[in-house]
Amino acid sequence: MRSKIVAGNWKMNKTYQESKALVKELKKSVKEIKLDNTRIIIAPPFTNLQKVSKKTKDTCIEVAAQNICALESGAFTGEISAPMIKSIHVDTVILGHSERREYFGDTDELLAKKVDTALKNDLEVIFCFGEVLEDRKSGNHFKVVEEQIKKALFHLTSEEWVNIILAYEPVWAIGTGETASPEQAQEMHAFVRELVAERYISGISENISILYGGSVKPTNAKEIFSKEDVDGGLIGGAALSANDFLAIVKAI
Ligand code: PGA
Repeated sequence: MRSKIVAGNWKMNKTYQESKALVKELKKSVKEIKLDNTRIIIAPPFTNLQKVSKKTKDTCIEVAAQNICALESGAFTGEISAPMIKSIHVDTVILGHSERREYFGDTDELLAKKVDTALKNDLEVIFCFGEVLEDRKSGNHFKVVEEQIKKALFHLTSEEWVNIILAYEPVWAIGTGETASPEQAQEMHAFVRELVAERYISGISENISILYGGSVKPTNAKEIFSKEDVDGGLIGGAALSANDFLAIVKAI
């Protein structure tokens, strides 16, 4: 049975002090929730990663990084490597987020390398993909998504797919308040699952968790999560408030 996952991407938000306060609130309230085959992951900025990782040790809250460098060490000013993440006991990384693709030059080719580096260092990957509005309007969204996935992930072996989580994030729905309809999300998730099924041995596609991301809020989470191929969410804005984030967790 594939896991349900609610992951919070804090992006470039929360100072050290603010993140300590948010984690404290999350830890307190999460105890009241009964988690059945559901994982909760939070991805704070790098400066807060170690502290949050320590504070959530022995709780049901897992911690992820928001990015890594494709290389493992060397003269790359400002970069953070996979071994560095691992050394502070963080086991998951988000890769391919549309903001990284748009503002920081994360191409499909570079993402394929980052995925390899992450897996080589025993990191699990939450791999994001999704079309921009023009692609959706012109009916190219399936083709765009197919290319993103094939180019960054289809060189992996079946064994490596065990450490992949997929996250469909239509760019037009991120931070805009506009959500893909549950039907649009389901349609894309089913398409992606089929894509994986065609390429890999059976079992991989049924077991892969596919999250939806893009303006998920406590008010719309339940409807989106009710779809068969939607296995959870990658949450941005609503992950910055303990109440909202936990309401979304409860919706699953
Ligand atoms: P949002 O962000 O929930 O604020 O739309 C989602 C994301 O970027 O992962």
